[in-house]
Parts: sequence; structure tokens; C-alpha cells
Amino acid sequence: MTRVFRLMLMLVFLGSAAYAMRGLFVAGETRSLHEHTSSALLAVSNIPPLLDYIPNYYQHVKPILEANCVTCHLENGIAPFKLTDAASAVEFSRSVYIATRDKRMPPWMPGGESPAFHNTRGLSGEEIAILANWSWSGAPLGKPENAKSAPSKDVPVSVRNDLQLEPGFNFAPNAQLSDEYRCFTLDPKFDTDRFVTGYDILPGNRKLVHHVLIYELPASMISQVTQREREENDARGGYTCFGGPRLSSSLPLLGAWVPGSSATKFPAGTAAKVRGGSRLLMQVHYNLFNGTGTDQTTLKLELGSAGTAFKTLQNFGPTAPVEIPCPSDYPDNLNDPCNRSAAYARVLALNNSGGNQRRRDGRILEQCRKNLQDYLTPRDRSEIKTSCDYPVPPVQLEIRGIAGHMHYLGKNIKVEINPDNPEKRKVLLEIPRWDFHWQGFYWLKTPVVVNPGDTVRISCTFDNSQTNQPYLNGEQQKPRYIVWGESTGEEMCLSFIQATIK
Ligand code: HEC
Repeated sequence: MTRVFRLMLMLVFLGSAAYAMRGLFVAGETRSLHEHTSSALLAVSNIPPLLDYIPNYYQHVKPILEANCVTCHLENGIAPFKLTDAASAVEFSRSVYIATRDKRMPPWMPGGESPAFHNTRGLSGEEIAILANWSWSGAPLGKPENAKSAPSKDVPVSVRNDLQLEPGFNFAPNAQLSDEYRCFTLDPKFDTDRFVTGYDILPGNRKLVHHVLIYELPASMISQVTQREREENDARGGYTCFGGPRLSSSLPLLGAWVPGSSATKFPAGTAAKVRGGSRLLMQVHYNLFNGTGTDQTTLKLELGSAGTAFKTLQNFGPTAPVEIPCPSDYPDNLNDPCNRSAAYARVLALNNSGGNQRRRDGRILEQCRKNLQDYLTPRDRSEIKTSCDYPVPPVQLEIRGIAGHMHYLGKNIKVEINPDNPEKRKVLLEIPRWDFHWQGFYWLKTPVVVNPGDTVRISCTFDNSQTNQPYLNGEQQKPRYIVWGESTGEEMCLSFIQATIK
């Protein structure tokens, strides 16, 4: 909501600036006048440069939109409007300019010191300038006969379809909610251990599906899922699983889909192992912002042939303590939602993850050598920092891929190796502006080797001030003391790392 508000303010402000510049073009004014206008604006925002030609849709803009935008901005796509034809591009030209100038679009979250990842999204300075100049000039169409085209930069990866799995029924998310999270089980019917070398997740309804996570569900934990489904007793099928599968221990993550992603092929020579007798658990996040409907999401697996040796992808997930006090001073009253015990009572009442039990007794604070008091002492509550250092396992590892995870109060997240040693320090992931709705899994272009004795540090910053509170069911929440939990209102500071033994 605050984002929309900020966006509206910007539209109002820059809308008038763009209008002023368009006026200059129309009046045939010189460049120096424009520079005069833009230097006044530069103090508040990053205005792209004026080009020495007026770009038009068919020749200059269409290829940029085709290469960078239309995988999502298409009829019935995940984005709220299409950019696939001239009329829609013209209609949205001004917001296209603003969103690309501010680097909100195309969405790409890693930044700062992050290493090079595969399938990076982003526009060049020149492309941003073309969209800006086009919008300032009143979005001229140009001539269809001069039309240029460009292939999508989201390079499609293809994987073999050796095994196709789906829940077997259409699921109807609850139209009363803004978001619904559902877990479905899939049965690959593997008698023996098998290697998965790639996968493709195909949402049945791209209007609704905002992300999908696939976990391996070991045979020993299948009964817990059956239990969840029974407790929920919901004829729609599956069970509610905000944040994660909500079982007694965490499951190995096999794969993920987020809007705009194509199939995933694991790095050459590597594979994820699925043990014989395991099922797969598919968590789907439905976002009901663009309407309602039904969905059945399909998973396709590419399997390694029996007898081939693979380096097995192992995932581990460094976490940091979550102790987020209210902006006010710390209250002693046990019934006050800003009291820590009240927060733990709330999370336990939801009974929503084994993780909470592990973290409730403060063991994670101890493990990370943190002092609870440091989290409670009054300070700027819009910058609550937490971190934890872990020794890497006593083997040489190659880190291949990484994701970060927080909920709505997250501001930024960073994962680094040997943070305190300038010579051996390496950043694995940095997301400077966390956005809960844009989570991704990032594969490193070059694996990072870590050695026994190295340290991995995960750091997160949260903002628990009133203005940053999420809207749940249309209502902005009040700050509360927040602890580790998987439901909407609680928080996490977690990273998924995929690595192989070197
Ligand atoms: C990976 C999918 C994806 C790609 C690629 C993408 N968009 Fe979007 N876009 C979205 C979604 C989803 C929204 C809805 C708002 C949100 O969730 O951030 C959106 C919102 C927008 C908005 C309105 C809100 C805002 O932030 O201003 C504009 C304008 C926009 N996109 C333009 C573009 C342009 C231009 C490109 C290409 C240069 C692009 N988008 C590429 C998914 C995408």
C-alpha cells in the first residue's frame, strides 16, 4: 500500500515534469532549455538523458518491450496489464517510463554486491532513455512498416519431460483473501533413489499463481501431511501452508517457480536426489489481486538415467534469530502484543511450525552468540538488524545457487562468506530492497568455493514501524513484537543455498 501511495505521488510529480518537457518538444525548444529543467529535477530523481532523436513505438520501443516485458505483460499474464500491442504500450507509456527509470521493472531484486547470476533481468541506460524520451514526446507510434522485433531476453531453458505430475484436481483459491498458500502432494512412485536433473513448473492459471515451491517429502513424513489435510477438512483439497509446509522438520527444497521464470536445468553434472518412497510437496502461493478462478499446476521432471553419476545438490539454510520489538518502549505487561512472551504465546497457539519450537527456547540466540538484550534496547525501530555466523561443513563445497527469504517487514537481506576477512570475503547474495512479492532463486554463473574453516553470515534488516505494517485482509496491522513464525504476520530471516561437494 505504501508502495502504491509512493508511486502515485511520483506519478503526480513526474507527470507534470514530463508534460512540461513534452511542451518543450512541441514548441521546438532547444536542448539547453531541457537541460535547465532536468538539472532542477536531478536533485530529486534520476532522470534519463535527452536523446537527439524522438523514439517511436514500432522502431524503438516495441523491441525493448518484447525483449524484456512481455513474458509477464501479456493477456492473462501475471502483470496487471499487457504491453504486447501498440495501443496498450501507448496507454501505459508514462508509467512504463517511471517504472523503468526507477528500476522497479523489469523486476530483478539482487543488487549491491551480488555476484553474477544466470538469467539476470535489467535494461541498459540507453534502453531506459529510449522509453523515457518516447514517453516525454507523447508516445508517437511511427510507421508499422518500420517495425522491429526482438527475441525475449528471458532465455527459455528446455528440459525433457520424463515424468509429469499434478495434484489431479482444480483448486479454487478463496476469493475473500488477498493471498492464499496451499500445499498439494505429488507421487512420483519412485521405488529407488532417483536423480532429477531439471524441472519445469507450469502454473495452470498464471493470473493467480504467484510462486510455487517443490519439496521432497520423505516417506517417514507423509502421515503428517495426511494429518494436516484431515485437520483442515476442506473439500477443495490440499492444505493451508503459508510460509512453508508446517511439518515437524524442514524439507529439502527441490525447485521453485516465480513469475517470468522458465524451466530450470541444474548445473551440468549436478542433480537433486529424490529418495525411493518419497513424495513431493508442492506449495502454491495464489495472489487474488487480478481476480479469481481455479488452478492446477503441473510439474515436469527431467530424470538422470540410472547408472549415471551426479554430484548431488545439497541444500542448507542459514537462519538468524528473529526478535523484533515494537517501536514503543518494551512493555512488561504479558498481555500487551508488544511483549515478547505474548508474541511466543501467539505463535505457539497457531501451532504453525516445528521451527518455532526450536527457536522458542532461545537456542538460536545462543547458537548465534546473540544477546536478547541487544534486540530489546531501544533504538531506531525502522532498522532492526539480525545476523548469524555459521562455520561451513568440514568439506570443500561449491555454492551453486541461492535465495533469501523474509516476510512483509523485511527491508534487506545479505549472505556472505568470511565477512570479517577483507581478503577472503565473498558476497553470495544481496537484496537491497526486499519485496515479499518478488522472491527468486538465483543460480551463480561461477560457483563459489568454500573451504572448511570459512564462515557464512546471513544478515537481515526489518522495519517494524507503523508505516511499514502489512495490510492483511484490507487492514493495516499495528506493530507487535514479532518472532520467528511461518504465518503472514510473523517473520523469518533465512537463506536457501544449493551446493555440491567439490
Ligand atoms: C517477471 C514478470 C514481469 C516482467 C518481466 C515485467 N513486469 Fe512489469 N509488472 C509485473 C507485475 C506482476 C506487476 C504488478 C505490480 C507488482 O507486483 O510489482 C508489474 C507492474 C508494472 C507496472 C506498474 C507498476 C509499477 O511498478 O510502476 C509497470 C509500469 C510495468 N510493470 C512495466 C514493465 C516494463 C516496461 C517491463 C519491461 C521493461 C516490465 N514491466 C517487465 C511483472 C513483470
